[in-house]
Amino acid sequence: MIPIPLLALVAPALCLKAFDNGVGHTPQMGWNSWNKYGCNINESVIISAAETMNQLGLLQYGYEYIVMDDCYQLKERDSETGKIVVDPQRFPNGIKYLSDRVHQLGFKFGMYSSAGKFTCGRYPGSLGYEELDAQTFADWGVDYLKYDNCFNEGMSGNEKISSDRYLKMSQALNATGRTIFYSLCQWGEDNVWNWGTTLSNSWRVTGDIYDSFNRYDDRCPCESFDCAGIQGNSCSMVNIFEKAIPLAQKSGPFEGWNDLDSLEVGNGGMTTNEYKAHFTLWAILKSPLVLGNDLPRMSQTDFAIITNKDIIAINQDFSSPAVRVWKRAVKGGHLSLLVNKLADPYVFTVTLFNSGDRKERLEVKFSDIFFDHPGFQESSFTARDLWTNETMDVKQRFFTAVNKHSVKVWNFVLTDTVAANSGWGANLRSIWHLCVDTILVSKQIS
Ligand SMILES: *[C@@H]1O[C@H](CO)[C@@H](O)[C@H](O)[C@H]1NC(C)=O
Ligand SMILES: *[C@@H]1O[C@H](CO)[C@@H](O)[C@H](O)[C@H]1NC(C)=O
Ligand SMILES: *[C@@H]1O[C@H](CO)[C@@H](O)[C@H](O)[C@H]1NC(C)=O
Repeated sequence: MIPIPLLALVAPALCLKAFDNGVGHTPQMGWNSWNKYGCNINESVIISAAETMNQLGLLQYGYEYIVMDDCYQLKERDSETGKIVVDPQRFPNGIKYLSDRVHQLGFKFGMYSSAGKFTCGRYPGSLGYEELDAQTFADWGVDYLKYDNCFNEGMSGNEKISSDRYLKMSQALNATGRTIFYSLCQWGEDNVWNWGTTLSNSWRVTGDIYDSFNRYDDRCPCESFDCAGIQGNSCSMVNIFEKAIPLAQKSGPFEGWNDLDSLEVGNGGMTTNEYKAHFTLWAILKSPLVLGNDLPRMSQTDFAIITNKDIIAINQDFSSPAVRVWKRAVKGGHLSLLVNKLADPYVFTVTLFNSGDRKERLEVKFSDIFFDHPGFQESSFTARDLWTNETMDVKQRFFTAVNKHSVKVWNFVLTDTVAANSGWGANLRSIWHLCVDTILVSKQIS
């Protein structure tokens, strides 16, 4: 074991993030217009979303960015300046007015373009116009760019071609001098999880989400992340979850974030238990938590889901995504056990996900939960269910049941003071925790 003072010296070098524009040290949170509205957006849609976020106090839960997706433009660029032209019917007061309004309400403003000749809605894309468009966005007061992959003119197929295409916009955004969160929407092509970290804050790992728990759709033909075929769209929640799990190791506070796509909570295609599972799984895998629903007409039930502070806290904890310890096929479906090691060395999050069609009863063993942390296998914990708040004292094993299409998620807090004092505290302050301190301290200073 390297002594702590030495670690303190080497940590700053080890903790450097390849790409650091000062934002995105935890997954971004906010709202995006696409899942609910698609192309049917206008000034009042965006402003009423922002006003509702403000009235509901969503900023205090962490929801910070209001992102306007595709279809705000006219079909042609300005013939003299080459700039994107905003549709004057839908946005009679222009984009600067909109971003000022969003800022007045306390939020940050995001927009959309594509690293292609056109956007997905066939409006002018930013390929070949990176500097001009980045400056236009900066002039409009934009704080976030979602950057799509449509009409890329065949400039994909290997990591170099794709990453060069996305690097152009990264450099153009940087050159504006404005802090702009850079969110790649590259659908998981060309192993974006390997190079997204060098030039962006987050990167989509799959085709577009569809508001369904597990409906199969030929437009989303891949069942796992490494399939050779097209990533597609209309991917169910479980399809995306299964693809994202093995990629979780590619994301973290010093890397950037795997983006599992905007949330569907509140859009009506899943049951309450399914939406709780969706929200929990996105949170523990450290996906951005970007709402995609009709905010002014959100139900109390959906509001309670998206404002569960304990679940959000796991997502925003300064640590890495959940690890799946096991996946078991049972009659009619699958059960998964997932564990998050949180930044606090004495707290873990334990999640059971039942994607199958019947309720399952099972025994959960500490030898599984603490497979990666064997020193805790004999310890005692208080486990709190983060959806019901019921607590139980646990040691070695426990029995539980998980409804169909549901999760159970607990915070495990160490109660065993012997274990807490017997060296874990000092010895486990690894490079990891020094990195956490380094970044947190530098954040406080700036
Ligand atoms: C703005 O868009 C919404 C949703 O598509 C629509 O209901 C509304 O009528 C539109 N408002 C204007 C002024 O076009
Ligand atoms: C531009 O990049 C440099 C070097 O990575 C970084 O220090 C700086 O914060 C970036 N500026 C903006 C506005 O993103
Ligand atoms: C559980 O209790 C905590 C602490 O009292 C509270 O903040 C949280 O909102 C409760 N969660 C639920 C789901 O009731």
